[in-house]
Amino acid sequence: MRHLMSPLDFSVEELDQVLDLADDIKKNPEKYAHVCEGKKIATLFYEPSTRTRLSFEAAMMNLGGKALGFSSASSSSAAKGESVADTIRVVSCFADICAMRHPKEGAPLVASMHSSIPVINAGDGGHQHPTQTLTDLLTIRSEKGRLDNITVGLCGDLKFGRTVHSLIEALVRYEGVKFVLISPEELRIPDYIRDDVLRASGHEFEEVIRLEDALPELDILYMTRVQKERFFNEDDYVRMKDFYILDKEKMRLAPSDMLVLHPLPRVNEISTEVDSDPRAVYFKQVQYGVYVRMALILTLLEVDIC
Ligand code: CP
Repeated sequence: MRHLMSPLDFSVEELDQVLDLADDIKKNPEKYAHVCEGKKIATLFYEPSTRTRLSFEAAMMNLGGKALGFSSASSSSAAKGESVADTIRVVSCFADICAMRHPKEGAPLVASMHSSIPVINAGDGGHQHPTQTLTDLLTIRSEKGRLDNITVGLCGDLKFGRTVHSLIEALVRYEGVKFVLISPEELRIPDYIRDDVLRASGHEFEEVIRLEDALPELDILYMTRVQKERFFNEDDYVRMKDFYILDKEKMRLAPSDMLVLHPLPRVNEISTEVDSDPRAVYFKQVQYGVYVRMALILTLLEVDIC
């Protein structure tokens, strides 16, 4: 039995297979409409979510299965003090696979150690968000045509943005990827990503503060929101929250084929006037997220497709 805690749990070849399967699901949805009949996914969300929880549930339903779960710690027995280990033992009796989001880094890993069903990390604190990374990779591969030889700008809250940490870990496995890390001083990428992932991989990267300086050289701009829920101090959040606002004027500095991705939710960091720009693919990205989660469920459940 396999779990998914980090994008690195899959080799590049396995990752490519998941993305290929997602491509096929996109092209032939009817072929997959009943392959998970009788199966259930449990979505155990101890933190708020719109996309990840609903896309996991939609993914299982698109495969002919069913979904159950909770959307906040307060509506589960966690509010009475139940441990993650006990919860997953119980949920293993109800479901075939589980997606867990938790504010504590490592909580889904703890769950996987006590589970008799595959556990998917749907976001743990400021640590990892591997299924967002699968979504991002599928979006880039589908819309750009490749995952290698690209210059990727990651902008915003690089300190707490778990989607950025997971995406960098995944992209360093591809040749010729250059990273431009765009953040205020206070929200720079954590040392372990800079040293143990970027420097250790030998990939070219630079850290800049001004988005305008980076835009002309980018193939991909990955915008992120400032993660309000991870700040200890409201004043710091207020000072940082509007540091970057991508608008039409800044988009004029970008190449005509640069893609704008965002894991969403968006707050102020992308002006709504950018939504109609053909380079803005962040809502398409959400749809790719459903296809890739369908592919992931099939892979972890080892469902045979005739
Ligand atoms: N991208 C993402 O994780 O969105 P949600 O928080 O709405 O799940």
